[in-house]
This record gives sequence, C-alpha cells and structure tokens, in this order.
Amino acid sequence: MTITDAPSADELRQHMADRLVREGCIRSEPWRAAFLAVPRELFVPDFTVRAQGTLHRYSQGDPAWLAAAYQDVSLLTQFDQDGTATSSSTQPSLMAQMLEALDVHDGDTVLEIGAGTGYNAALLSHRLGPDHVVTVDVDPELVAAAKARLRLAGYEPTLIAGDGMAGHPERAPYDRLLATCGVPRIPKPWLEQLRPGGVIVANIGCAIAHLDVAADHSAAGRFLPGLATFMNARPTPDAVGTTAGSLVQPLLTWSGQTREITIPALDTPGPQFLASMLHPGISDFALADDEGRQIRCLFDPVTSSWARITTTGVTSARLDHGGPRDLWAEREPLLTQWRDAGRPGHERYGLTVFPDGAHLLWLDEPDGMSWRLPD
Ligand SMILES: C[S@@+](CC[C@H](N)C(=O)[O-])C[C@H]1O[C@@H](n2cnc3c(N)ncnc32)[C@H](O)[C@@H]1O
Repeated sequence: MTITDAPSADELRQHMADRLVREGCIRSEPWRAAFLAVPRELFVPDFTVRAQGTLHRYSQGDPAWLAAAYQDVSLLTQFDQDGTATSSSTQPSLMAQMLEALDVHDGDTVLEIGAGTGYNAALLSHRLGPDHVVTVDVDPELVAAAKARLRLAGYEPTLIAGDGMAGHPERAPYDRLLATCGVPRIPKPWLEQLRPGGVIVANIGCAIAHLDVAADHSAAGRFLPGLATFMNARPTPDAVGTTAGSLVQPLLTWSGQTREITIPALDTPGPQFLASMLHPGISDFALADDEGRQIRCLFDPVTSSWARITTTGVTSARLDHGGPRDLWAEREPLLTQWRDAGRPGHERYGLTVFPDGAHLLWLDEPDGMSWRLPD
C-alpha cells in the first residue's frame, strides 16, 4: 500500500465507530455521532502502545501514527521516572461502554475525574454541550494541554487542575460522574456532589462499578461486564503495575518461611475481582522464573510482606512468604468462600456505598452474603 492509499482520519473514525457499534460497545445514536465527530488524533500527538510486552512509540508525522491513533487500545501518553504510565487515552471500546452506562440525558451535567488527553471530555462535550462537562486532572500540565486541544477541537468544557477525589463542589450537584482513573474506594465527596437519582461509573478494584445515587446520598449498584483496571488515582500508591515492575528480581529470590499449599485459583476472574475489592493495597502478579514457570506473587507495599507461590504438582504448590503479614493466609479464605458460593463471576456481585463512606460488597442481593470492605 502506498501512502496515498492510506485511509484518511475520517475513514478511520468511521471504521472505529462501526466496529464499536458492531461489538455492542456503542448502543445509541448520540454516542455514535460523538465518536464520529471527535478526532481522536488531535488529542494524542505522541503516544506509546504496549503490544505483546513491547512498547511502540508513535509521533505525529510518523507514517503509522494516524492509523495507530484509531486502534482499539489504550494510548499511553505520560510516564513517570520509573517508566510507569501515568496518563493515557483509554481504549475506545471501554470508553464507549462506560459512556453508554452513564445513561446521560440532554441537559445533564457530568463530572469527569481524570481529564488526561481531553478526548473523553470532547466526546462528553459533543453529546451534552461543553457547558455541561466538568473534568478534573491531578496534573496541571495535562490539564493545560487538554484545554488547548479541546479548544482546537471546538469544545470549551470546564477543566480543573486538582485532586479529583475531592470532586469539584463549585459546580455541584452533578447528574453523572465518570471516573477514568482507578479508586480503591468511592470518595465521600462524590456521593455528596451527585444529586439523588444520579449515576456514578467508576473503576474500583479490577471492575467498573455502575452505582445509582439514592436520596440519602448512598449509592448502590453492580458491575459492568468484563474486568478492567485503570491507572490508579494519584497520589494513592500505584499497587499492581509499579510495584510488580520494580520487584521482579528481588521477589523471585527472597527467602522466608515455606509451607505446602493446595494450588489456588488465583488467575480466574472471580477470585481476582474479590481480591481487588477486599485486599486493595496488595499487588498480585505473576513472574516467570529461569525455567519459564509462572510464579505467583503477592506483595504489600505498606508492610513489605510478600508471598511467592510455586507450582509443584497438579494440585500442589510451595508457598514462600515473609514479612509481618501472612498474605496467603489472608487470601485463602476468600478463595474458599468463592468456591463454596459456586464460583460466581463478578457480575453476580453488587456494591453499596453508605453516606459515611462505608462500602458493602454483596453477592446477588444486598441482603445476601456480604463483606464490609476495609477502609
Ligand atoms: C486513563 S487517564 C484518563 C483518560 C482521559 N479520560 C482521556 O480521555 O484521555 C487517567 C487520568 O487520571 C488522572 N488522575 C490520576 N489521579 C488523579 C486524581 N487524584 N485526580 C484527578 N485525576 C487523576 C491522571 O493524571 C490521568 O490523566
């Protein structure tokens, strides 16, 4: 294919919107129109894509840049000194699902947490009008860049540099809140700033919660299909990615206490979901040893407690662990409960957040089996 055969931005956008409709991620005409109207490439002049463990960098002007900007992947746009991504343009299929789940109506005002590149704020502005969109990012440089790009695209929503965990009380009450950074718990200010009947769509643990706000400013609901983890809200410690990355070598060689255990079902989505909710600060990752065996690791950055699980047979494994917390002894009962409950997927769980900030995770119904989540 010669350069002149390359699809135009309009064609790429059409192709992306068609695919999102086909896959059921876009379910309504107004969101299809928004994805067709907003040029994603305008918001991502430089980005990096992670594919099969390798990072590929694209910059405006590169022949492959435009098509890459329309891939259905997360485009990483900012990194810290350790190489951990700190901002991105979220995967369009996930964004579309979250936007549809918000269930907005004309006249609604949306608070977005995590302005990032500004692309999502542009989609919201197209759908609702810029006067109905407030977006917050913790990084003032990102906010300045997003503001400039939004203006170029023809939208001027309200952009705020600040900690999104505090919301933005000046424009409350909001009808909808969409968080595009992960939170360990739903912050109380969000509940206070949403009107009764409002909706919160936010990544908590490794799932996307869809919560309806009640008259007393509690919120309750379930989780969207599919598991997804956004980059954690800063300055909260970024549990999984960062810690796992920086611990690769040490954790494989640390020595501590050892015992035999039955092989855990750590990798299946149900236990992963439960662990992300009930043990939010614990990094949970797999490493390959010299022989290519998968070694499962748990790490608590607060107490430096760790656990390493090495498969030794069809149903057996060796547990090595150290530090003040026995992380496996804490994790194992979760797995047993999950197995005894019939191995439910995360769609069978629900979450209630009370006005005082307490979180209750429940199975099937609010008065069913439940867990008060640690603060
Ligand atoms: C996945 S990106 C957001 C993508 C964005 N919605 C877009 O369309 O490009 C997550 C963003 O959350 C921001 N963030 C992290 N912690 C935050 C916090 N405490 N308050 C507000 N934003 C935060 C990051 O700076 C990052 O830009």
